Amino acid sequence: MSHAAPPENPKEGGSGSLVLEIIRRRFSCRRYLSDPVDEEKMADLKEAVRWAPSACNRQPYRFHFITDRPLITEISRAVPTGPASVNEWITSAPLLIAAIGTPEVFWHRATQVIDKDYHRMDATIAMDHLSLVATELGLGTCWIGWFHRRKTGRILGIRQGEEVVILMTVGYPEKKPVNRKPRKELEELVVNRNF
Ligand SMILES: Cc1cc2nc3c(=O)[nH]c(=O)nc-3n(C[C@H](O)[C@H](O)[C@H](O)COP(=O)(O)O)c2cc1C
Repeated sequence: MSHAAPPENPKEGGSGSLVLEIIRRRFSCRRYLSDPVDEEKMADLKEAVRWAPSACNRQPYRFHFITDRPLITEISRAVPTGPASVNEWITSAPLLIAAIGTPEVFWHRATQVIDKDYHRMDATIAMDHLSLVATELGLGTCWIGWFHRRKTGRILGIRQGEEVVILMTVGYPEKKPVNRKPRKELEELVVNRNF
């Protein structure tokens, strides 16, 4: 597996797509300044999840925007296994977002036929939109998959049948990454099925 570092200048090459530039600028931020996220930016993040696409436009999700520090700390400790200290960095974030999937009977039935968890896909798509808007607004984000689903759901008091799909920290980055994470070469990722 070969890897490529992101370009020094994210605007380099290509057609000059602004969205692509933002996609390249995003990185996993694991240390934040204590400043809260401005209300206007918070409103944009909420609009970002709102306008994401979802299968059949069912929008089978809700998003908890958590700024309550003790609650963020409690969630950071709900790890699946091992020491809770692995997630301690989460407590530096002024905002934690929990994407909650709200699978309905409709999708439970459909899942048996088509073998796809649309509520998870839909919630993840919405969170990815949010992470890109956050990046554009100068905010850092980090996905968190390392959490105990049921414990976290209990802490948040989610409804029967709902599940915590993914968590994401948001805040102003303490610093920019020195070394960006590399990516596979295009040849390893993309299969061009031309005639
Ligand atoms: C679904 C998902 C779950 C992740 N879970 C965690 C996590 O629990 N803790 C963490 O520190 N980073 C987590 N990450 C961040 C990845 O480690 C990171 O995106 C990857 O190493 C690439 O680095 P980059 O985001 O800086 O480009 C997760 C990313 C994704 C997409």
